[in-house]
Amino acid sequence: MKIENIKVCAFDAYGTCFDVNSAAENVAPKIGENWLAFSNTWRTSQLEYTWLRSLMKKHVNFWKITEDSLDYAMTLHKINKALRNELLDLYKTLSPYPELKECLTKLKNKKIKTCILSNGTPELLNHLVSNAGVKNLFDKILSIEKIKIYKPDPAVYEMTTKKFSCLPSEVCFMSANNWDIVGGGVYGYQCVWVNRNNKIFDNLGYHPKNIIKNLKELINLV
Ligand code: 2OP
Repeated sequence: MKIENIKVCAFDAYGTCFDVNSAAENVAPKIGENWLAFSNTWRTSQLEYTWLRSLMKKHVNFWKITEDSLDYAMTLHKINKALRNELLDLYKTLSPYPELKECLTKLKNKKIKTCILSNGTPELLNHLVSNAGVKNLFDKILSIEKIKIYKPDPAVYEMTTKKFSCLPSEVCFMSANNWDIVGGGVYGYQCVWVNRNNKIFDNLGYHPKNIIKNLKELINLV
């Protein structure tokens, strides 16, 4: 379904532009056959910690949460602690999805503004986009660290409308995380769920009109 009247394409970072499993995958031989289960535990607890800390009003930044959730996942899966620093370093340079640069370039060619809207700290996000060679393809990098509350709080999605002086409906928002799509959708964004792994959407009172398998398909919608 064509998306009309947008002023900016906003992208979630982790899981949407960058592969959160690429850190553990890089050391899979040292972790063993359950490397993906370990990586999924790391990601799930990382997200749970963001939601719980925002609800408790006990904010710490996304890097501290990434470290704390890593320690939990390593303990649960009995992973050699000697891998901790290597995994953290790899998390700073997660692999971009292969279609990311082409997607952003096509949007730029259509004179569409682009930004990242993420839980990541400014430092983490700048490192990710620089390492992936796409820093110049984003007009803005928006980090929740400015407001110190995590997605899906509405104040996060308001960051984009404030930065670009636009209406919520003028934002086209891409995320692979369905809870993030719901957050943006109930705020008023036009959302595109990037369903990379054939997941089932949650029942949280909002369903996206547009679902794509990867970012290559986005240019056909805007
Ligand atoms: C984000 O990048 C954590 O994927 C989430 O904000």
